[in-house]
Amino acid sequence: MIEIKYEYGMIGLGTMGRNLVLNISDHGYSVAGFDKDTSQVELLKKDSADRKVFATSALNEFIKALKTPRVIMLLVPAGKIVDEVINELKPLLSENDLLMDCGNSHFTDTNTRIEQLEKSSIHFMGVGISGGESGARFGPSIMPGGTKEVYKRVSVMLEDISAKVDKKPCATWLGPGSSGHYVKMVHNGIEYGIMQLISEAYHVLKVAGKMNNDELYHVFSKWNKGMLQSFLIEITADIFSQKDGMTNNSLIDMIIDSAKQNGTGSWTSEDAMKLQVPLSVIDMAVSMRNLSAYKKDRQAAQQKLEGPGYKFEDDKNELVILLEQALYFSILTTYAQGMSLLHAASKEYKYNLNLENIASIWKGGCIVRSSMLDNICSAFSNQPDLSNILMDEKLSMKLMQVQIDTRKIIQIGLETGIPLPGIMTSIAYYDSYRSAWLPANLVQAQRDYFGAHTYERNDRDGKFHTSWNKERK
Ligand code: 6PG
Repeated sequence: MIEIKYEYGMIGLGTMGRNLVLNISDHGYSVAGFDKDTSQVELLKKDSADRKVFATSALNEFIKALKTPRVIMLLVPAGKIVDEVINELKPLLSENDLLMDCGNSHFTDTNTRIEQLEKSSIHFMGVGISGGESGARFGPSIMPGGTKEVYKRVSVMLEDISAKVDKKPCATWLGPGSSGHYVKMVHNGIEYGIMQLISEAYHVLKVAGKMNNDELYHVFSKWNKGMLQSFLIEITADIFSQKDGMTNNSLIDMIIDSAKQNGTGSWTSEDAMKLQVPLSVIDMAVSMRNLSAYKKDRQAAQQKLEGPGYKFEDDKNELVILLEQALYFSILTTYAQGMSLLHAASKEYKYNLNLENIASIWKGGCIVRSSMLDNICSAFSNQPDLSNILMDEKLSMKLMQVQIDTRKIIQIGLETGIPLPGIMTSIAYYDSYRSAWLPANLVQAQRDYFGAHTYERNDRDGKFHTSWNKERK
């Protein structure tokens, strides 16, 4: 017979769900967990002995164990399963209960679920959680979206369990509706971009610089103490020092060069295309994951398609210096593109996002945390409606300082045939963005020529069409 009623419920006791339950319980809250898989239930029971934690594989029992109105977090794989869980839960819920989807759900699904559950007076929040297993256990970055009033029911708990930077929680209400899941999606897009850029630096150091994994470990460790200080640079250093448990090799050399994906990166690109926001580094990162999966084709092409044949013979330490600047340039450009998408989405979807708050809750706990976010926060603190951080006084100065070395690295990439698509597209974005004139007048002329799509003129208002070949003769 269960006597105490638990404050929070967790559905899905996989690694993330279990770790979050333990994190919530560390902060003195009582939690009931549910999973159909009895082995997960047993694991939580074992890990939570002596805590105010209850675990069961019986849904009825789980529902009865919760204080009302209930607060139930879902940590199940995004997609159909979320709807299946909601459908099973619905008959057992009461008015004013709150469901929080903490997975990486697509924001449009979150909108649909909010609408559907509203009809039964059940609240639904989309909550982005970043930081992987250890974040969930010891302090993630939390991106909650939904009704502000409803958020107040969980704000103290979410802020308690989140990572802290300068004693400030990396969790705050972001906006209405699906804004939390939208922001998490863009976070992941930025994550894709930065991972691609770091891999390009690895490619240059390994192939042009002929560095071994030990040297790579030292380069990335050093970078992590400087202007590139970030979680992704830190774990990259660790990766190069990891030995394989099955052979005597470095583990990195035993891993197939074909990257997988769960979709959040391409969702970011898809929505940016829809909103017509240029997002080239993230688009390129998604394309490069796709291209990496064509392993067999690449193997065949290597036999057939020749490159420039030039070998880099200069000082590899010079490469390290240039790459540090190039990574700074291109990573900052990636944040700039991601933030500009949030700026546009905030208006389009009426999220009314506070971009400074978002940059601030990304400073700790999440995958894209980095020291660059300090300056990004300041940029939005100075100009809350800044549409592109490239225009911030301090950040633009920094970019201008590092652009020359970025161009030098691209030149080395072109000469040696080492692909640097992310770094190249970041500088192309910068050069395009700073061009008051772009050759798009020609595109307009072509569209009007073959499709009578009309064009606008720079000397008078209105839309114009020319019967191109007739008027030329
Ligand atoms: C995080 C991560 C997390 C997950 C990604 C990986 O913020 O903690 O982003 O959400 O590891 O979904 O994405 P891919 O599987 O698409 O690389």
